[in-house]
Amino acid sequence: MTAFSITTMTMSHSPSSSSTPPVVALRDAGPGDAGSVYAWNCATDVRALSGDPRPIAFADHVRWFERRVAAGSFWIVELDGAPVGTVRLDGAAISIALDGSVRGRGVGRRAIAAACGRVAQAGGGAVVAKIHVRNHSSRACFEACGFRPVAERDGFVSYQWSTWSNP
Ligand SMILES: CC(C)(COP(=O)(O)OP(=O)(O)OC[C@H]1O[C@@H](n2cnc3c(N)ncnc32)[C@H](O)[C@@H]1OP(=O)(O)O)[C@@H](O)C(=O)NCCC(=O)NCCS
Repeated sequence: MTAFSITTMTMSHSPSSSSTPPVVALRDAGPGDAGSVYAWNCATDVRALSGDPRPIAFADHVRWFERRVAAGSFWIVELDGAPVGTVRLDGAAISIALDGSVRGRGVGRRAIAAACGRVAQAGGGAVVAKIHVRNHSSRACFEACGFRPVAERDGFVSYQWSTWSNP
């Protein structure tokens, strides 16, 4: 994977009054993104609905981040060229967190679609998301992206998407 591979998704219903439509893009995460990713992933509201809500020390985050970025499939979500969140694939499992200021504007839907597009480009496969039952915005967003609930256990719903069910 190249260091600056880009996937762009044009927003079709931008709230902006600008004549140029805003664009959602993915770029590979790099060492300079550790602080931003910590802010997005470790925001109190994000951690509260995660599988393990305990706080994460920044130093622990940085150690994990360096190792995880090196493994690939870890992207920064850009809105009109500005970093606004992160999405990654741990095997088939997708995780996403956006800055609170850009939620509800179609960015998450396009970022998830772009990540699934990378799976399709790489030859196809399945993507799964494990989402807290009360995380209504996330469930709505993944459902809007074609993910289907396949199981519910311990307060989390497992969603699945695949290239063969979404050709
Ligand atoms: C979950 C998250 C990625 C969604 O991204 P987003 O940009 O806010 O969502 P979008 O604006 O793209 O919305 C996508 C769809 O979900 C729906 N949706 C979004 N927020 C919603 C809400 N609070 N209630 C109901 N529906 C909602 C939208 O109506 C939209 O449907 P449509 O395309 O049919 O109109 C984002 O809110 C986020 O980062 N949340 C915090 C972290 C998190 O919960 N991550 C997921 C962990 S599994």
